[in-house]
This record gives sequence, C-alpha cells and structure tokens, in this order.
Amino acid sequence: MQLLKTKILEEGQALSDSILKVDSFLNHRMDPVLMHEMGKEFKRRFQEEKIDVVLTIESSGIGPGVMAALELGVPMIFARKRKSVTLTDDLITANVYSFTKKEANEIAVSNKFISSGDRVLIIDDFLANGQAALGLMEICHKVNATVVGIGIVIEKAFQDGGAKLREQGVRVESLAKIEALSLGEITFVEEREDAIHE
Ligand code: G4P
Repeated sequence: MQLLKTKILEEGQALSDSILKVDSFLNHRMDPVLMHEMGKEFKRRFQEEKIDVVLTIESSGIGPGVMAALELGVPMIFARKRKSVTLTDDLITANVYSFTKKEANEIAVSNKFISSGDRVLIIDDFLANGQAALGLMEICHKVNATVVGIGIVIEKAFQDGGAKLREQGVRVESLAKIEALSLGEITFVEEREDAIHE
C-alpha cells in the first residue's frame, strides 16, 4: 500500500536493525485518515471472503481493526491483555510470549462474542515473530471458529512470523513488508502486486 509506505519513509524511524518506530501515526498518535484507508485496503484484499467478525489485540491493533470492521460492516473484538473488572463472562484464553518485550501475556476474549462457526479476520499492527497472531488463532480454534485470514499493517519480513503463519496454510496480507532495517534506513520488499493495485 503506497500511501502507508510513503508515511513509513516520511515518519518512521529505524531504531536498530530490528525495531521500527512509527508512534507518530500507528503506535501512539494515530492518523485516522490513513487508518481509514488501511481499512478500505483490508476490505479490498479480503472482499471475496465471508467474514462475520474482526479479531485484534489491544492496543495498537484496535485502530486498524476497527477501520477494517467498519468497511466490512461487521463488529470488531479486541483480545485483552489485562484483566478487566467488567469481563465477567467465561473467557477463552491463550498465552502469548513476546520476544521483543521478553514477557508473556495471557490474552482473553469473552465467549459471548465469538462462537463456533464464526468466520474471523484477524488484524494486527505488526507481524514480527507471529506470537500474537498465533495466540489469536488459538482462541479461534478453541471455539471452532474459522480463521479466514490475517491482515497486518507492517510485516517485518526478516523475522519468521510471516513464514510460521503461512506454513499453517493461513492467508496473510500485509500492507507494507519491510525487508531490512538498519539505523536510519528502511527497505521494503519489492512486490509486483503493489504496482497492479495502486
Ligand atoms: P509477534 O506478536 O509478531 O511475535 O511480535 P512481538 O511479540 O515480538 O511484539 C511484541 C510487541 O512489540 C507488539 O506490540 C508488537 O506490535 C510490537 N512490535 C514488534 N516489533 C515492532 C517494531 O519493529 N516496531 C514497533 N513499533 N512495534 C513492534 P504490543 O506489545 O502488543 O503493543 P501495543 O499493541 O500495546 O502497542
């Protein structure tokens, strides 16, 4: 998605050879116009699929997740990482270990909002090692919901999350794929598809 790549080049900062800082439009301040365009692009990429619900994870997945849901005309659920006093239903949980943050989180979704037979589109902001997406897939499998696909805003293609998910046969669509980072430099994976659609 060219608009996103331009924004990454203008405002993103490669902090090291593995971390991209994009807190001016995605991880802290959010750009609603760009988010809306992302929602439209996710809809375009998954338009032939029947989708009942979008599933994401707090906090940075919520922006792109809700915009995709708005465009698809379905509800959006975000998995919680922290216990909520109002989350009193039976919970479906999965354990997610973050290699980036070196911490484990139990993520949870109420069983009221996702059920057997639901066709789920998973959305997240970053794909690094794939642990968050795998945890969301586990939640879907626990209730016999079908994962229609995974939509990612920024995939770090030099980490193995994308390969892990695609090996499982799930369709992964990333709006921007980063081939490499080095201090101050960002390189994208060249994709012919971009030229066709944009
Ligand atoms: P994984 O799910 O693909 O395995 O990723 P990982 O655990 O390594 O990532 C943990 C957190 O760090 C996630 O956010 C993820 O979005 C974020 N992250 C990973 N790589 C980068 C990066 O290069 N740049 C930025 N900006 N974030 C990255 P989180 O803990 O869920 O945070 P939030 O959603 O509450 O903001």
